[in-house]
Amino acid sequence: MNGQELNQIQKRALDNYSSSEPWPDDDNWHFHTNKILNQKVNELLIEYCTDEKIILNAGCGKTTYNTSAKIIYMDIVKEYIENFSNYIVGSVENIPLEDSSIDAIICVGSVLNYVDIQKTLSEFSRVLKDNGLLILEFERSNSAEFLFTAKYKKTIFQQEYCYNNQKHFLWMYDENFVEKLCDYYNLNCLYKYRFHVFSSLLYRLGIKEKRAAKYCLFDNILQPISYPFSHNTIMILKKLFLHKLEY
Ligand SMILES: C[S@@+](CC[C@H](N)C(=O)[O-])C[C@H]1O[C@@H](n2cnc3c(N)ncnc32)[C@H](O)[C@@H]1O
Repeated sequence: MNGQELNQIQKRALDNYSSSEPWPDDDNWHFHTNKILNQKVNELLIEYCTDEKIILNAGCGKTTYNTSAKIIYMDIVKEYIENFSNYIVGSVENIPLEDSSIDAIICVGSVLNYVDIQKTLSEFSRVLKDNGLLILEFERSNSAEFLFTAKYKKTIFQQEYCYNNQKHFLWMYDENFVEKLCDYYNLNCLYKYRFHVFSSLLYRLGIKEKRAAKYCLFDNILQPISYPFSHNTIMILKKLFLHKLEY
C-alpha cells in the first residue's frame, strides 16, 4: 500500500465521518454488526476489566461501554468525542500515549479497515502492558461476498463501499494475514468469533443486503464452518510477556 493511497483513504474517512453519524440508522446490515459488537465487547469487559484498569477505545465513534474501568476515547473526528472526559483526537496509527500504559484496547467497527494496519498494530502493541488485551474486529477478504472473484482471500486490497449514503474506501484483509501480523507484534490470538456468515453467502447469491443481514441469527451455530464465508471477525488477543535480554 503506498502513501498516496493511504492518505486518500484517511482523508475520505475523515470527510465522511465528519459529516455523518458513525453508524447509519436505516441500514439493517450495520445495525446487526453494531449489535453483535456491543454484545461481545460488553461480555469481555465484564470478564476482564475491573475498576483500576485503563482501556483505550481506538476509533471509538460515539460508542461507550458499560464498565467501571477508565476509558480513553480516541477518534479522528473531534465532534464525536469532545464530550467525554478523557479523549484524544487523532489517528490510531500514531497514539500519543506512553509505552506499556494501557490494560486493554478496543478497536471495533471496521476501524482497522481504514488504516495502515502495520503502523496501527505496532502502536497497539507498544502502548499495551504485558498480558494486556486487544479486542480487534475487521472486515475480511475471505468473505463470501468475494467468492469466485480474484479478490477472494487476497492478502490486502482496497474496496469501495456505499455506507451511510457515502462512498467509503476500505482495506480488506485476509484473516490469516492479520493473525500473522499480530503475532509479529507479540499479540497472540486467544479467541475468534466470525459473523455475517450465512448473510454474506446469501448476499453473494443475489439476496438484497437488508434481507440477507437477518441471517446473522445463525452465526453462533455456523462458527465451525465460518472460515470460508464470514464477512467479519472479532479477535481477542493478548500481548505476550517477553523476557528482555539483559547484558
Ligand atoms: C463505523 S465507526 C465505528 C465506531 C466505534 N468503533 C463503534 O464500534 O461503535 C468507524 C470509526 O472509525 C473512525 N476512524 C477512521 N479512521 C480512523 C483513524 N485513522 N484513527 C482513529 N479513528 C478512525 C471513524 O471516525 C469512525 O468513528
